[in-house]
Amino acid sequence: MKVLVVGTGAREHVICESLKDDVELYSYMSNINPGIARISNYRQGSELDVQKVAEYSRDNNIEMVIIGPEAPLGRGIVDELEKYEIKSVGPDIDAARIETDKSFMRGLFEEYKIPGSLTFKVFDKYEDIDRFLDEYDGDVVVKPVGLTGGKGVKIVGDHLRDNDEAKTYAREIIDTKMGGFSQVIIEEKVVGEEFTVQAFSDGKNLSPMPAVQDHPHAFEGDDGPITGGMGSYSDKNGLLPFLTQKEYDDAVQIMDNTISAIKDKTFSYYKGVLYGQFMLTKNGPKLIEYNARFGDPEVMNTLPLMETPMIDVCNGIVDGKLKKVSFMDKASVCKYLVPDGYPETTYGNTLISVDEEKIDALGGHVYYAAVNQKEDGVYTSSSRAIGVVGIGETIFDGEKIAESSCRNVHGNLYHRRDIGKKELVDKRIKHINDIRT
Ligand code: GLY
Repeated sequence: MKVLVVGTGAREHVICESLKDDVELYSYMSNINPGIARISNYRQGSELDVQKVAEYSRDNNIEMVIIGPEAPLGRGIVDELEKYEIKSVGPDIDAARIETDKSFMRGLFEEYKIPGSLTFKVFDKYEDIDRFLDEYDGDVVVKPVGLTGGKGVKIVGDHLRDNDEAKTYAREIIDTKMGGFSQVIIEEKVVGEEFTVQAFSDGKNLSPMPAVQDHPHAFEGDDGPITGGMGSYSDKNGLLPFLTQKEYDDAVQIMDNTISAIKDKTFSYYKGVLYGQFMLTKNGPKLIEYNARFGDPEVMNTLPLMETPMIDVCNGIVDGKLKKVSFMDKASVCKYLVPDGYPETTYGNTLISVDEEKIDALGGHVYYAAVNQKEDGVYTSSSRAIGVVGIGETIFDGEKIAESSCRNVHGNLYHRRDIGKKELVDKRIKHINDIRT
């Protein structure tokens, strides 16, 4: 079977690894990712040019396309591929609104009475924003309604000093049509521990993956700016050290209700991966945001643990016959190596080297992310460069493998040594215990 993977990062590299032994693999990517390039037939080009991707698929008799990033979904890549009767693992443009239109997403929770939502309001007028924030008792989160590559969300107490700064930022979102809408969404700020549940969906059936916790702050001790995610862990039982079975099940139920609501509202079956970012609060899991794709780095925790062949899962999704997907009962830790200075872009475009044999001998896995293969080697770009993963009986076993793997990646790079270490995991547990009491 000929399968095309769209996208160029570590997320797409791990997807390709999970398929490479079972399919004739093709890829469509904007940079030459060396990990993907050596295991697939590839075309370099913008993933946003959805017509070109569809034509390339048609010309190569591709039977199924797996879409890695969210932006092509927002441009209707699945609908474009459907014109050539090519099946996709990824939602069509209507179902993808669960990520591409936050007003639609929150409205769905309201209309279908899905639990776990937050108080929110959508605005398009300055006066309404001012009136609302003058009266609102508590901190807020200000978000563009549309896609901004994860960079538009600002939280009072984190990026914004107070609700006055929230007003200014909300106006800026409307003025600049940030994310493509002249609207802004303001939500209540909730306190707790964040966790991710990713689930496969054929539009009727949902099969969840182990829960994962990402670490969005750039520096150790959860310090520094919020980034795309510096690393993540999952635990042996599919839960997290601070997350109970009931809390996990509640999160999955919210996602299950969501795919039913999407079908009812849009008449589209949500086919692909649904990524739920939750905040575990004293009142249980609250849905912070959905993505219409795998998480990055979270996919590097879950796909290497998957026992069901990826191609069987993908066939189940496109045929509407998804069955329960099984995972190894092990823990995993992922760490991202990023260019010095990240998330500033000053130090990108430097040569790095990866001793894959040594990492392999240590039992680690390595995934190439925002790098570019050139004639004389692999160069960083301005974003996360290399993901390494360790799998073990415990998070701490996985951490040791991931950490020793990091020592075999050389260049002007740094990573967070604390991710997956006992001190940080204990801090999370204490935080939740404090919130629960
Ligand atoms: N881990 C954040 C994301 O995938 O968007």
